[in-house]
Amino acid sequence: MNVLVAGGTGFIGTNLCRELRDRGHDVTALAREPNPDSVPEGVETAVGDVSAYDSIVETVAAQDAVVNLVALSPLFEPPSGTSHEEVHLGGTENLVRAAEEGGVERFVQMSALDADPDAPTEYLRTKGLAEDVVTASALEWTIFRPSVVFGEGDEFVRFTKKLTTPYLTGLPGGGETPFQPIWVGDLAPMMADALEDDRHIGQYYEIGGPDVLTMERVAELAYEADGRSVTVLPIPMVLAKLGAAAVGPVPFVPFGPDQVRSLNVDNTVADNDVTAFGRTEDDLRTLEEYLGLSGSGPESSESPPSSHRSEAA
Ligand SMILES: NC(=O)c1ccc[n+]([C@@H]2O[C@H](COP(=O)([O-])OP(=O)(O)OC[C@H]3O[C@@H](n4cnc5c(N)ncnc54)[C@H](OP(=O)(O)O)[C@@H]3O)[C@@H](O)[C@H]2O)c1
Repeated sequence: MNVLVAGGTGFIGTNLCRELRDRGHDVTALAREPNPDSVPEGVETAVGDVSAYDSIVETVAAQDAVVNLVALSPLFEPPSGTSHEEVHLGGTENLVRAAEEGGVERFVQMSALDADPDAPTEYLRTKGLAEDVVTASALEWTIFRPSVVFGEGDEFVRFTKKLTTPYLTGLPGGGETPFQPIWVGDLAPMMADALEDDRHIGQYYEIGGPDVLTMERVAELAYEADGRSVTVLPIPMVLAKLGAAAVGPVPFVPFGPDQVRSLNVDNTVADNDVTAFGRTEDDLRTLEEYLGLSGSGPESSESPPSSHRSEAA
């Protein structure tokens, strides 16, 4: 199958491109500035900006399937000149239109937990509107809504450390918002399965990892992996919002009220749809295992998943 991975040079995209290539597909990674050296060997690159229809139309038309991974981060304010609406909603509209006009059949949309046109943050609102564009299309679609994703090159663990300092730190809401992090090495094969198996057409999948962890716990684990400890001070969410509105909780981190709100949204799944891919939470890799704190040590994102669930979270 010819598969276009829009956003294929990013964190999840690189892992998905590798998985699809290993399964024998012809894979192209599309991005605004793709560096051919940063994608797995054998994966083609294409230049395109999803918010500019003319820049993607030809590349999309050559495909059997499209995966849309393009997004702005929920954790940082959008760079000037862009917006969540332009990239999430406008970008999805352009990809869907190009796919429909180009005769592409399969379309996998990467969304996020709690995406909804009435959600409390721009990131989630525009993700929700983008889902509506996909489901209203003539394409054979599948929508993924994962919790936070970890692995080599991830943003979440790095961001948590950026937001904290070792030994004593403050986190919005005391860092109590629950997350259910999933390893990219577990998620990418599920996305590849979704493209290959017609049973996944027309499905929404809410996907989480094996453990529910607070942001405080993620910070503790991240520092523990470096041989250091951290104590989190509770900063009430209202103060965090005020702080973020004034200067941002950490100097040099482009963090605003919308980003603080995003750290207050429960990021766990009610029913974990990993079962739709023949997996159970017990055989997914935990963050502790990935960080080398229990079970298997730190390994690359190409490593096989652990078969043991951590008890320590
Ligand atoms: N990482 C997580 O924890 C997580 C959790 C839930 C959902 N998701 C979703 O999963 C998807 C992938 O996340 P990720 O963490 O892999 O993101 P990422 O590492 O930031 O990658 C984003 C990719 O999109 C490309 N891109 C950005 N703007 C573009 C544009 N206008 N036109 C074309 N390409 C563009 C980037 O390349 P250029 O900058 O060179 O264009 C890059 O390849 C996103 O939809 C995200 O919302 C992620």
